[in-house]
Amino acid sequence: MLPDTVLCVLGVLGDQHRAESDLDHATLVIRSNYEAPSLILGVFADRFVARGSGTIIGVSSVAGDRGRASNYVYGSAKAGFTAFLSGLRNRLARRGVHVVTVKPGFVRTRMIQGLRLPAPLIADPKMLGERIRKAAVTRRDVIHSQAVWWPMMAVIRAIPETIFKRLSL
Ligand SMILES: NC(=O)c1ccc[n+]([C@@H]2O[C@H](COP(=O)([O-])OP(=O)(O)OC[C@H]3O[C@@H](n4cnc5c(N)ncnc54)[C@H](OP(=O)(O)O)[C@@H]3O)[C@@H](O)[C@H]2O)c1
Repeated sequence: MLPDTVLCVLGVLGDQHRAESDLDHATLVIRSNYEAPSLILGVFADRFVARGSGTIIGVSSVAGDRGRASNYVYGSAKAGFTAFLSGLRNRLARRGVHVVTVKPGFVRTRMIQGLRLPAPLIADPKMLGERIRKAAVTRRDVIHSQAVWWPMMAVIRAIPETIFKRLSL
């Protein structure tokens, strides 16, 4: 039986430093954050189109908005997944199937355990779950874990590359 909604949360942060020299590790990060989520949601997309309804939700990341030295293997895979979701939404918009892209900042889960991050920017997973549910019901296209990420990432994306390469963000 086909569900009404499919939510893909699969993802691996990995270790950026290790991914720079360990091809197996880089492959795991890229495949887990881009290849596998895109392929599995593509399979659901075709079945939802055949039925004429459905909601597809993909959890990507703000890390995909700009490549940073500290996490660009993970970030570039998320960028690919974000673009995939955007294209899928564009393709399915008139076929009865809605696609929601979730771009969290930081969320208090196993993934960020042990990392030193600014507390006000860490979202509660239950709160994010509720945001995702509402986004699906109201047919939003793209949401973040907290509203502050919209302007923050807009600024980060706007920094010219010649300046950005000298920053440690
Ligand atoms: N936490 C954050 O700050 C944050 C920020 C931005 C985006 N995100 C994204 O949010 C999503 C959920 O992450 P999370 O924070 O809940 O982290 P998490 O607790 O580490 O959960 C990651 C999930 O992915 C599954 N997974 C990882 N590699 C897999 C593989 N190769 N095959 C099958 N399943 C695999 C894990 O399954 P197991 O439980 O079986 O290991 C787990 O269910 C991810 O896509 C992540 O990139 C998280």
